[in-house]
Amino acid sequence: MCGIFAYLGSVKASAKIIAGLQKLEYRGYDSAGIAMIDSQGKLQLAKSVGYVSKLKKILESRKNANYRLAIGHTRWATHGQVNRRNAHPHLDCSRQIAVVHNGVIENFQELKTQLIRQGHRFRSSTDSEVIGHLIEEFLNQGLPFAAAFRRALQSLVGAWAVATISSRRPNTLWLGRFSSPLAIGLADKEVYASSDARAFPGKVKKIIFLEDGQLAKINLGQKQKIAVFNLDGRRIKHQPIGKKSIGKINLSRGKFDHFMLKEIFEQPAAIARALSGRVDFKKRSIVLGGLETIKGEIKKKKFLGLVACGTSYHAAMIGRLFASGGLGMPSWLANSSDYGPLDIDAYTLGRSSVFYVSQSGETADTLAGLKLIEKHSKALNLGIVNVVGSSLARRVKAGVYTRAGVEIGVAASKTFLNQIMAIILAEAYIGQLQRHPISGRSFFSGLKTLDKKIAVSLKKSPAIRKMTRRLTNVDSFMFLGRHLAYPLALEGALKLKEIAYKFSYGSPLGELKHGPLALVDRNNVAVITIFRKDPDWRKSISNIQEIIARKGRVIVVSDLDRREIPAQVESAISFPRLNSLWLAPFVAAPILQLFAYHLANHLGREIDKPRYLAKSVTVI
Ligand code: F6R
Repeated sequence: MCGIFAYLGSVKASAKIIAGLQKLEYRGYDSAGIAMIDSQGKLQLAKSVGYVSKLKKILESRKNANYRLAIGHTRWATHGQVNRRNAHPHLDCSRQIAVVHNGVIENFQELKTQLIRQGHRFRSSTDSEVIGHLIEEFLNQGLPFAAAFRRALQSLVGAWAVATISSRRPNTLWLGRFSSPLAIGLADKEVYASSDARAFPGKVKKIIFLEDGQLAKINLGQKQKIAVFNLDGRRIKHQPIGKKSIGKINLSRGKFDHFMLKEIFEQPAAIARALSGRVDFKKRSIVLGGLETIKGEIKKKKFLGLVACGTSYHAAMIGRLFASGGLGMPSWLANSSDYGPLDIDAYTLGRSSVFYVSQSGETADTLAGLKLIEKHSKALNLGIVNVVGSSLARRVKAGVYTRAGVEIGVAASKTFLNQIMAIILAEAYIGQLQRHPISGRSFFSGLKTLDKKIAVSLKKSPAIRKMTRRLTNVDSFMFLGRHLAYPLALEGALKLKEIAYKFSYGSPLGELKHGPLALVDRNNVAVITIFRKDPDWRKSISNIQEIIARKGRVIVVSDLDRREIPAQVESAISFPRLNSLWLAPFVAAPILQLFAYHLANHLGREIDKPRYLAKSVTVI
């Protein structure tokens, strides 16, 4: 949440910042701003409410602007309304220090009260503004800039990634990180900093990932001078790593109207990538290089845990069912957004391999879960992560990358399918090690053609577009499914909330008669039921009949033939029938994603940047 981009070099810093911020816009798009040092060494500022494109226009109107040093920010509001005053960068009283911040400063109120007592004047209602005033205060007390910067960051409780420039030090970029990500990108005679290393331009060849509690002072003279420090001021040796393995954010949508639609249609290729080289079809076994090196440790762990939130939690729910129902492995699941000391069961944790599932690898809730488990147990911590080099990927012992590719649409789509795949491959691999192999040929033969089957589901897009046109006036949606389809129901409901802003609710189908049935209402509610032709399918049909009996509007998403579905349902969308039940989510989920997409599109929503949301949730 919130994107920071900074540049120190020899040409047009403002253009570099805009290009970087546009790639970081997935992190927040409430407002954008930039601070630059001009050729006289003075600090210049530009801010606007809304997308980075507005800031770009403002900067284009400033003639001959050529700055060498600049910091930029795209905001997802936490403290203080969305307005120009609260847009970053924030200044100190003397207007000589500019700060951009990502995270939440939990003790900002105490700090602010104290600073006001010391005579500082605040202009915004953000938590972030305290940082500039703190630096100023320590400078006023006679500390050199480096020490003042360090002392200011030492004072903060919470999460912060910070970039600072000052007209007092017109050639220096100051950076710091605790719990929120920040990477430094090295190019020839240029240095960049970004909340996401994938936003660096191609010329960046080496990266330094700042770790928690690290600060950096960067100067550019004849040579790049990059000094990294601990919060206590001790110098740290930093080892830049090559950028090759880190993906690139590409802002081209090709023939698609939205990134989300493009990403939905990329799913066959994404799944093929997730499987590539990881399945030995002859031996019917899974090969995972990422876990191979620690297989001795994995073998010793009796339980398998999954920790995640949001869409990743829904993928983990499917993983949990696969562990128990598919492999017979003892397993547990935790929602990281509601995970705390009361959930700690040291006995189980210490005997668990725990997978933290996260697309971004930066989600504060999931990282907090990891830190808590690290503190209280000897669990073997593993990652299921999409973003290579992310905080989570760097912190866990080993893991499996989901290989979905960069996802720009804020609502997760292809990363969801690839998470499910990475989780079940990882679990099947552990099952092999622990003599809990996956049974049945249909799983392996199904994997071979899964990408093609997903493509069959995607062909339903025009039919779903047509069908959803009739639903734009419906106020509320119920998504219902049993067993494996329950996480899908939750995911379908989440997609619709996020991008169509429709009230939607996911529930087990069997739960209907225990309460939700009372919500059925022909005019205002539509019920989407999801199921496959499994031994329980007739029960699902009976549940549908119960809704029809109350004049409810029912949409069926299933692999049934139309004649097996009651004639009174409003619509039926089918997905291909697969022999392995574990593969059904891969062909059913795209139907639900397209349902949300088309409905949101009919309503004219900002699909790729839904209101109030951001893709990388780096605050608790
Ligand atoms: C929904 C969505 C969110 C994320 C959640 C976790 O479309 O994208 O619910 O799934 O914020 O994010 P990651 O997977 O990055 O940890």
